[in-house]
Amino acid sequence: MCKIKNNSVFSFIILHVFLVATSAFEETCEFDRQMEEQCRIHNYKTVKPLLDYFRQVRNELEDKEIKENKLNELNSDLMEKYHEIVRIHKKFIKETALLDEYKNKVLKGENDLQLCQNKNEKLESEINSQQNIIVKIIGKLTDKCANLGNCELQLQNLNSSLIEKDENIKRLSENIQNITEHKKRIELQVNEKKSMLVKQDEVIKKCQSEIDTLNRTSENIREERKKIQLELKESETKLIDKVKENQLCQSELDKLSPTTCIPFEDSDVHQLNVSGIGFFDVLCNSQIAGPGWIVIQQRVGGNESFNRDWATYRKGFGSYKSDFFLGLEKIHRITSLQRFELYIHLVAVNGSVFYAGYDDFKISDEDHGYALSLGKFSETIIKDSMRYSENMKFSTFDRDNDFTGANCAADFESGWWYNACQHGNLNQPNMIYPLFYMKEAKMLIRPKEAMKK
Ligand SMILES: *[C@@H]1O[C@H](CO)[C@@H](O)[C@H](O)[C@H]1NC(C)=O
Ligand SMILES: *[C@@H]1O[C@H](CO)[C@@H](O)[C@H](O)[C@H]1NC(C)=O
Ligand SMILES: *[C@@H]1O[C@H](CO)[C@@H](O)[C@H](O)[C@H]1NC(C)=O
Ligand SMILES: *[C@@H]1O[C@H](CO)[C@@H](O)[C@H](O)[C@H]1NC(C)=O
Ligand SMILES: *[C@@H]1O[C@H](CO)[C@@H](O)[C@H](O)[C@H]1NC(C)=O
Ligand SMILES: *[C@@H]1O[C@H](CO)[C@@H](O)[C@H](O)[C@H]1NC(C)=O
Repeated sequence: MCKIKNNSVFSFIILHVFLVATSAFEETCEFDRQMEEQCRIHNYKTVKPLLDYFRQVRNELEDKEIKENKLNELNSDLMEKYHEIVRIHKKFIKETALLDEYKNKVLKGENDLQLCQNKNEKLESEINSQQNIIVKIIGKLTDKCANLGNCELQLQNLNSSLIEKDENIKRLSENIQNITEHKKRIELQVNEKKSMLVKQDEVIKKCQSEIDTLNRTSENIREERKKIQLELKESETKLIDKVKENQLCQSELDKLSPTTCIPFEDSDVHQLNVSGIGFFDVLCNSQIAGPGWIVIQQRVGGNESFNRDWATYRKGFGSYKSDFFLGLEKIHRITSLQRFELYIHLVAVNGSVFYAGYDDFKISDEDHGYALSLGKFSETIIKDSMRYSENMKFSTFDRDNDFTGANCAADFESGWWYNACQHGNLNQPNMIYPLFYMKEAKMLIRPKEAMKK
């Protein structure tokens, strides 16, 4: 190593000289070329080999330096490697000691192993015997396991049912919680309702007291009403008495100023007082068809002539003791006061008695010709012969109101309500009503309502 160093010092010196020399050239390579150029021009051929030599030496020196550097690097590497080798060697020595130790241990271990093997063999035999025992136990255990399987199933069932029950319990406890909450809410509501009820009770009490007062007043009213009803009854009976009195008075008055024969329940001649005419006599009849009839026409076989003029028929004629006609004006006045019925009483030549009735008999005033109205017909055997005269004006030989060109009244020698002459004329000399001869005829009138009294 030392040799290498001396050599390098020497090389360094040479190199330095060379570098100084070449650097003069290097300094100016351009100069070199210029020189070359000049030398070429002047004396180049002589100088050139020297120059080439110098260039060669310089190149070699450069190579040497590089190698020197490399050598130095290698040297330091070598030193490092040497130190490493020293370290490795120390380690190796340590490890050899360890190896020795290990070898001893291995030897010992081999002994131990032998011992172990012995023990192992012993253990193996023991294990074999134990295995036999275990096999027996396993057999027993498998039997038990079958049972256990059942048990497990049951357990699982029990477990699931337990779980279910747990869940149920959870739900139930939730329910209970809910219920208790609900209960609380309901209790609150109940309390509210209670207070409301108390208020209502107060209102009801008030109402009750008002009802009581109303009841009392209504009772008072009832009593009052009873009193009033009693009073009313009393006054009613009084009124009825007065009405009766009045009626008595009226009948008395009627007797004093009668318009019909109703007040006279006999068959005598009485005075009527009819407005427009005043007082006049009538023949009443209560024998033929009940009480209170006025006789307006009568033919009982007398020698009275019914072939009379208008004025005589208007006024009336004859004798109440025999045949007579009351008079058209009187009949009109009487029948215009109220509704009358007509009763025709007939006695046939052979003695048989007949009746014909009309329920609304009246005759109009003179201006309308004393026209006839009859109403509904009712009868025994005899026909409704007078219907032919209904609505007809009265005719006399001196006042012809009939429906013919002839003079019916003159032809039949009597006044009557002629149409195209007649059926059942009770005024003609020979009474034919309707088919056979009559020896007696009477025309009676009475107020329609009198029948009901
Ligand atoms: C019961 O069932 C529950 C849930 O399925 C499970 O976690 C638990 O181990 C079971 N217990 C038994 C004893 O099977
Ligand atoms: C309890 O009440 C709540 C609401 O009030 C309801 O949603 C829940 O289902 C209830 N639980 C049960 C178990 O009834
Ligand atoms: C009214 O009073 C009578 C007796 O005083 C009683 O019987 C009746 O129940 C009462 N009515 C009411 C509605 O209070
Ligand atoms: C007769 O009747 C008329 C009314 O028709 C009446 O005014 C008069 O007072 C009556 N005469 C008597 C005396 O009753
Ligand atoms: C009717 O007869 C009576 C006597 O009975 C007589 O006085 C009267 O004049 C007669 N009348 C007529 C109209 O012939
Ligand atoms: C009278 O004559 C009529 C009609 O011919 C007859 O219906 C009636 O029976 C007779 N009476 C007597 C009593 O003969």
